[in-house]
Amino acid sequence: MRIVLLGAPGAGKGTQCKRIVEKYGLLHLSSGDILRQQRAEGTELGKKAQSYMDSGALVPDELIVEMMAGAISRIPDGGYVLDGFPRTVNQAQELDKALSADGQKIDAVLNLEIDDSIVASRMTGRRSCPQCGGVYHIENLKPAVEGKCDKDGADLTQRPDDSLEIVENRLKIYHQQTKPVVDYYKNSSTVYDIDAGKDADEVSALVFVKLGELVEV
Ligand code: AP5
Repeated sequence: MRIVLLGAPGAGKGTQCKRIVEKYGLLHLSSGDILRQQRAEGTELGKKAQSYMDSGALVPDELIVEMMAGAISRIPDGGYVLDGFPRTVNQAQELDKALSADGQKIDAVLNLEIDDSIVASRMTGRRSCPQCGGVYHIENLKPAVEGKCDKDGADLTQRPDDSLEIVENRLKIYHQQTKPVVDYYKNSSTVYDIDAGKDADEVSALVFVKLGELVEV
């Protein structure tokens, strides 16, 4: 299965991707995680991406498409779930071109729908594990010990782009540039709209019902 997860910042893409990966044994490719890794390693790409990410703007398409096409091409057979990519219609078209050159296509798109009013509290309350990438929330998905990762005990950190001001900019950019990607896929792929405003377990249940239908086909 080749799956794309779409949704606003804080819709729960990363949270649901981790669960999909556990259940279906797919690979999880997050463009945001790869960019943060590049920054941590101080690569040229990481340096170029830095100012865009810090302001909540999108990194230019040509950098992202090259990065993600390379990452996808290194995945062995077995399928994957894309998180945060494609994020512009141009990126989606470039992905389609690269896949069709290999006789492949996206099998399903999960569109996590969430009201803007919920996003701010999800973002400002998010805490992440720098070691394993685990994602928590100070109210909704608390770790067993405050401030520590359940899996490895590492100190949880807050993403610098999760401040209120930057979140507002990320949301604005989502509506301008990423929402049209949903319509793009509605013309070419199976798109499942999922109510992502519910509790994380309820959202997972909705996601698994849809993916279950896909597996049975
Ligand atoms: P990226 O890392 O992709 O950020 P994003 O898309 O803004 O999404 P987030 O990771 O913030 O949110 P999420 O939907 O994964 O939510 P999560 O599951 O963590 O991108 C960062 C930056 O990189 C971009 O701004 C851009 O600069 C650049 N970039 C990346 N890809 C790019 C591309 N393709 N093109 C150009 N630039 C690109 O959940 C959030 C919180 O809510 C967590 O605390 C979680 O515990 C909690 N939560 C999750 N689900 C629920 C629920 N159902 N109920 C209650 N709480 C929940």
